[in-house]
Amino acid sequence: MIYFDNSATTAIHPLALDAYVKTSQKIMGNPSSLHDLGTQANRLMQQARKQIAGILAVSPHEIWFTSGGTEGDNWVLKGTALAKKSFGNHLIISAVEHPAVSETAQQLAELGFEVSIAPVNKEGFVDVDQLAALIRKETILVSVMAVNNEVGMIQPIQAISELLKNYPKIHFHVDAVQAIVKVPQELWLTERVDFATFSAHKFHGPRGVGFIYWREGRKLAPLMTGGGQEENHRSGTENVAGIVAMAKALRLAVEKKAERPAHVAKLKEYLTEELQKFAKVTVFSGAENFAPHILCFALQGIRGEVMVHALEEKQIYISTTSACSSRSKTESSTLHAMNVAGNLATSAVRVSLDESNTMAEVEQFLIIFNQLYRKFSKVN
Ligand SMILES: Cc1ncc(COP(=O)(O)O)c(C=O)c1O
Repeated sequence: MIYFDNSATTAIHPLALDAYVKTSQKIMGNPSSLHDLGTQANRLMQQARKQIAGILAVSPHEIWFTSGGTEGDNWVLKGTALAKKSFGNHLIISAVEHPAVSETAQQLAELGFEVSIAPVNKEGFVDVDQLAALIRKETILVSVMAVNNEVGMIQPIQAISELLKNYPKIHFHVDAVQAIVKVPQELWLTERVDFATFSAHKFHGPRGVGFIYWREGRKLAPLMTGGGQEENHRSGTENVAGIVAMAKALRLAVEKKAERPAHVAKLKEYLTEELQKFAKVTVFSGAENFAPHILCFALQGIRGEVMVHALEEKQIYISTTSACSSRSKTESSTLHAMNVAGNLATSAVRVSLDESNTMAEVEQFLIIFNQLYRKFSKVN
């Protein structure tokens, strides 16, 4: 089996799984309970918060637990809209955001907020001047992802941060789900970033748990109301085992960070070079200013899902451009924003690598791809 779908999800690290199982078995208290068992659970959770904050070099008061990336994005967008609607009703998002941001913005638009879309150039990068031109006095939030999940561009978060220094009241949100441990932190958590979203299952933690960074002093309304957990900011009994396992997975991933990007980048570089030798292949992901782990390409005339299933028969797992939208069989929204022709965009597939992948797997992938290329060429 060759697993090249690490942007969809990663395998849980055995030590993170171990932490999850042990916490589930041994820590039975609800962290809100007043007795010893509750205190014990709460202590573990606060340790995990401290650990994560330490890794990001932020305050533990700036880390808030969620059920993952989708909740984090929803919370920041809707929470900002609710908290700041008396100051303004205008939001700006980039044209290549994950649906957790773009659909949430669309929902806010239906509720009467105004949403502007910052366009991208043909390589997929946000144009900072065009974004600047969209800012109005009613603007309350700018949301731009750090690493695009479909094609892998690293957006100019530092340049946008510079721009937003002139607009200190605007909330700046960065969806960093695909960026953490993959690209250097200074590219997604600048001093000007107010909120950032993270998800454990993208860095070998469990699914269904994540956190947001929330810069102290910023206002955000809760999305989940109820029992008042997370100091009234996010109600719901906490997923203690998931949180502990997430902190463990993050620590393990960060420890390996030094060697990871170089190894993964080498695999991507070789794969790109080899794929470009096929006349009917278009590669959308570049090297410079692109994440090392994501490679998006299309084989002209063959729909993405046909390629995914043909490779699956050989036990090679990749995806159409993003796992979340791949079942809906729509064309990639990122490629659409990059002005890629519709028929080519529907052929796009994504290979997403991880440090556990090897050059031998890449070679095997290329052998199988070559066979499929010849088969499909005959049919066409
Ligand atoms: C950029 C980005 N944001 C948000 C999400 C949603 O994260 P989750 O699956 O934890 O809800 C994903 C998941 O693929 C993603 O890639």
